[in-house]
Amino acid sequence: MKKHPNVIAIDGTSASGKSTNAKLVAKALGYVYVDTGAMYRTLAWYCLSKRIDFHDAKAVAVACRKWNTKLECVEAKVRLTVDGYFPEKEIRLVEVSVAVSMIAAVPRVREWMKKAQRDCIQFGNMVMEGRDIGTNVFPETDYKYYLDAHLEERTKRRVAEGVNENLADRDQRDSQRAAAPLMIALGAKVINNSNMTSEQTSCLLIEDIQARLKADGR
Ligand code: DC
Repeated sequence: MKKHPNVIAIDGTSASGKSTNAKLVAKALGYVYVDTGAMYRTLAWYCLSKRIDFHDAKAVAVACRKWNTKLECVEAKVRLTVDGYFPEKEIRLVEVSVAVSMIAAVPRVREWMKKAQRDCIQFGNMVMEGRDIGTNVFPETDYKYYLDAHLEERTKRRVAEGVNENLADRDQRDSQRAAAPLMIALGAKVINNSNMTSEQTSCLLIEDIQARLKADGR
């Protein structure tokens, strides 16, 4: 029987080091990397550029049903393109960061994203990072991790990246929405990396994943 690709789910709070570590883990294992936050950001950017009111859940759901997208895998990274364009830089703009958590709370958007994210399995073994990967997108995977760090430390990390953002507000919006809120998945290994470098965090993850894959004969 053909083996199902391995899915490593990395969830956690904003600025908990998910992206940095998920990329390092994917590289070390030779897996594909999927940033699901970038997919939500792409829809937020699309709504802003089409002047669709991102506070209007119905309008956002309609846009999400109709937009012309494609999943591509370039240099072992999955990207979502819209009308053939990947808005790599635009999705990091402040206005997109402001709109995205509103958009991510729309149930129809989450349904669409879940399907697209599950479709990424076509690219093979992968490390997928987000907020609901272990709880909602790939609840069946045995490889679930949840990263966190103290609010003060996470705020410091964002400031060092040149981003001034109220993370407490974003945590609250991500954790308290009705549809697939940020939660620790059952069976997830929790890593609080407040006092750790990304090298230490990724080493811990890689060693744990490799040991578990070996024990599972994968
Ligand atoms: O990780 P990020 O900051 O790029 O995520 C952008 C937003 O998308 C964030 O507010 C949470 C939301 N998100 C989500 O709800 N579910 C995911 N799987 C990934 C991101």
